[in-house]
Amino acid sequence: MKKDLINIYDLEAADFEQIWKKSKKLKKDLKEGKPHASLKGKTLGMIFDKSSTRTRISFEVGMYQLGGIALFLNSRDTQIGRGEIITDTARMLSRYLNGIMIRTFSQANVEAFARHATIPVINGLTDLLHPCQILSDLFTIKEKKGSYEGIKVAYIGDGNNVANSWIEAAARLPLKLALACPEGYDPDAQIMAKGIKDSKEGITLYRDPLEAAKNADILYTDVWASMGQESENEERKKIFKDYQINAKLLKKAKNDAIVMHCLPAHRGEEITGDVIDGPQSVVIDQAENRLHVQKAILEILL
Ligand code: CP
Ligand code: NVA
Repeated sequence: MKKDLINIYDLEAADFEQIWKKSKKLKKDLKEGKPHASLKGKTLGMIFDKSSTRTRISFEVGMYQLGGIALFLNSRDTQIGRGEIITDTARMLSRYLNGIMIRTFSQANVEAFARHATIPVINGLTDLLHPCQILSDLFTIKEKKGSYEGIKVAYIGDGNNVANSWIEAAARLPLKLALACPEGYDPDAQIMAKGIKDSKEGITLYRDPLEAAKNADILYTDVWASMGQESENEERKKIFKDYQINAKLLKKAKNDAIVMHCLPAHRGEEITGDVIDGPQSVVIDQAENRLHVQKAILEILL
């Protein structure tokens, strides 16, 4: 049966282990120049309704390195942008392609796509979730810290798609998650309630970022205004001004804490330049790992 990656709940314990093992091997093979064309002749369609640098390039290059090809499908240039319905698009594209990656606004549309497609569907970000990002971040944490078991991740900022996927990860894996969001900008209530119920190590929502950051191993943040929220930018800058990763906040975390950001970043807003460009930041290694982890996901699903 085909398998999708729509949210982190789609993965079982054995899937996580397989992803880490394959990512490590694929990263090593690439660095050593060893060919690893396991997806020769396979095609991935990539539907984008929103902008992307990392996701697009890492999936595209990843497919190429695995011996397959990726097709960039901007909704505006296809019949999707002229209203062709999901049921027809999903069923028909399943006859051409071996997998589909979608970045769009509505989570419900990705789920509908997956229900009608007969090939694997990968969520490349919606307003609700960003699972590929968090899977690759977990791999980065394993590399930097040896394991994510028992570590504390402090997520500071907007309760957005990235925060929601962190909650799902903390629900499925033995890590502690502390979030600090301003009132009115909490993560999705349903995801939070389910996450708290399922988590082993605990998921806590604070209003005070200094509280959340206390003794953290990982300090994580994301933009204050996500794609589609551009008109709220100025208002959000005022509301979120105390939810910034800066030198003062970093002092609350463990001495050997690392700083992560899914990028793109806004220096002087959710994170200061001295911290994101400082010695504890791993953001570029983190971005690199999107490539290796997504290649592992593609090998498994395709
Ligand atoms: N982090 C991330 O998904 O980046 P892009 O929006 O550039 O794909
Ligand atoms: N929360 C951000 C993530 C970008 C990778 C957004 O949705 O725009």
